[in-house]
Amino acid sequence: MVSTRIDWVREHCRLLRAISAEFGRTRPFDGLTIGTGIHLEAKTVALLLTLRDGGARLVSTGNLNTTQPDAVEALRAQGVTVIGAPTKDSAVHVAYLDEVLAAEPDLILDNGGDLFARYLDRPYDGLLGGTEETTSGRMRLEPLRDQLSRPILVINDSPIKQFAENEHAVGQSALESYLRMTNRVTNGEQVTVFGYGACGRGVAANFRGARARVSVVDVDPVTRLRAHLDGFGTPPRDTAVASADLIVTVTGARDVLTAADLPLLRDGVILANAAAARRDPGQRRALPGPDRRRRPDRGGRGGRHAGVRR
Ligand SMILES: NC(=O)c1ccc[n+]([C@@H]2O[C@H](COP(=O)([O-])OP(=O)(O)OC[C@H]3O[C@@H](n4cnc5c(N)ncnc54)[C@H](O)[C@@H]3O)[C@@H](O)[C@H]2O)c1
Repeated sequence: MVSTRIDWVREHCRLLRAISAEFGRTRPFDGLTIGTGIHLEAKTVALLLTLRDGGARLVSTGNLNTTQPDAVEALRAQGVTVIGAPTKDSAVHVAYLDEVLAAEPDLILDNGGDLFARYLDRPYDGLLGGTEETTSGRMRLEPLRDQLSRPILVINDSPIKQFAENEHAVGQSALESYLRMTNRVTNGEQVTVFGYGACGRGVAANFRGARARVSVVDVDPVTRLRAHLDGFGTPPRDTAVASADLIVTVTGARDVLTAADLPLLRDGVILANAAAARRDPGQRRALPGPDRRRRPDRGGRGGRHAGVRR
């Protein structure tokens, strides 16, 4: 009998269930501590409990601003050490990372490079290596390769991750989050997607499937051509910004939109980010302030910022 959302997800992660059964026999992580700094939600609970079934001692914390309390509760109920609580405060988040690193894990599971980067500030003997989940984490850790000098498997480089998660899952969850958070329909809305990599392709396709009019902006002309041949509008950047009811940034780059873009924006435009929150778009850094802002030159309803993440 499936009783909770976490149980339901675990029930449906069949590969992980099979791996758990195998790990129960082979115990590959016996005697090892795995430190994790990944999103804590129902699916990652299934992942972490799989590692625990392989013999690992887990010391886990979440990523900035994404930790789900029921996931933490479920892990703690299973005896997993979970550091901290949901937080939007970077300093608090770093303190949680430090607590994970204080356990001197043998292996690290990272998402966005926070744990590995922090490890360089406070190294210890015995770290064997680990995994990094994201495109953004890869970009962040690549220049640190020599300093890290340990094998770090970039999950994002797996072809399956590229299409199964980045393209299909991110696209669908960005649409689902938009609908849930804004209570608006997409039909006929003008959506501008910044970035037409794997994630951006999924976002653009899902909003088009939901009957929005979708334009794509990408700094790479070849990628723009691909978007054009996929049937999306590829207007000049400022035109795409000025005409949008919704702008989704999904690039992995900083300052994609900045305060300089404010005069271009339509009243009521929604700004959303489907990429790694910490390192991605300009919205959070360059357009700080209240969620609802009124354009000074117009009397209409204010635009909103909406962070859209898994
Ligand atoms: N929300 C999630 O669950 C989730 C999952 C996977 C990846 N991500 C994140 O999404 C982001 C994108 O991942 P991806 O795999 O699609 O990356 P990618 O490298 O395949 O694509 C990024 C695209 O953005 C374009 N770009 C870069 N700077 C730009 C700018 N200033 N303006 C317009 N276009 C620009 C690039 O040319 C490229 O085509 C990364 O930050 C990644 O970590 C989020």
